[in-house]
Amino acid sequence: MTSTVAAPRRRPAEIIEQSQPSAANGQTKQSLLFALPKGRLAQDSLSFLEQSGLSIPTDTESRKLILPAADGSIGFVMAKPRDVPTYVEHGAADLGICGLDVVRETDRAVYEPLLLPFGHCRLSVAGPAGAAGVTPAESVEAADLALKPASSAHMPGTPLRYMSQPRIATEYPRLTRRFFAERGVNAEIIALGGSVELGPILGLADLIVDVVQTGTTLRMNGLVEIRTILESQAVLVVNRASYQLKAAEINRIIKRMRLLTT
Ligand code: PRP
Repeated sequence: MTSTVAAPRRRPAEIIEQSQPSAANGQTKQSLLFALPKGRLAQDSLSFLEQSGLSIPTDTESRKLILPAADGSIGFVMAKPRDVPTYVEHGAADLGICGLDVVRETDRAVYEPLLLPFGHCRLSVAGPAGAAGVTPAESVEAADLALKPASSAHMPGTPLRYMSQPRIATEYPRLTRRFFAERGVNAEIIALGGSVELGPILGLADLIVDVVQTGTTLRMNGLVEIRTILESQAVLVVNRASYQLKAAEINRIIKRMRLLTT
């Protein structure tokens, strides 16, 4: 993890203007920018912020990527989930919400002051139920064998590459490589941008490492969960410099959120 502490960047005048009520209204000027993940965490994030007593944007269906809160107190950046820690690390946003899985994978230098009570899922190793003699009931045992050093195990009927150098399709190459390396397995990582379940189906990979929430996607594609790599949920991330420079505003937000997490 890099130790660089990036100060909040200067922001375009238009954005600042949109996220700041005019002094003529008698309100305090604010300059907080909050990065929110588009996609499956978006609605839960907005609901959580609202329950925390924060003003949220009125038109959340808008295609605009930067939305002011209804009361103009905060600006919201709607970002790709994976980019949220990047914006926050570099100070393009002061704080953000994203999955712990994304924070660990991207390994950005951000503060993580609070786990949030939604977005629960896990990052797991999964593989074909029937392939290479592995049935759902046997899959854990098969995985145990596969995760031992190549020389120590050989399962009849299992392709050698599965034992010695499994090919793993994933959107999480860093965490996947580390997980297998720690177990002495020299995995070949095949980085994909999504729908990694296709990997084993199309013969591109032996296993996948992917997010499992309900398990439906695995089941629908004939895959079984083998090992959990990481338990994940939503997390608040904060830019290190903002945490010092805007301590009062940010701590007020954290305090409100904490009331909902205990
Ligand atoms: C995620 C993940 C799985 C699915 C798991 O995909 O990659 O495919 O959700 O959810 P489930 O266990 O509830 O079925 P997402 O829809 O976020 O899209 P992606 O495949 O592009 O990552």
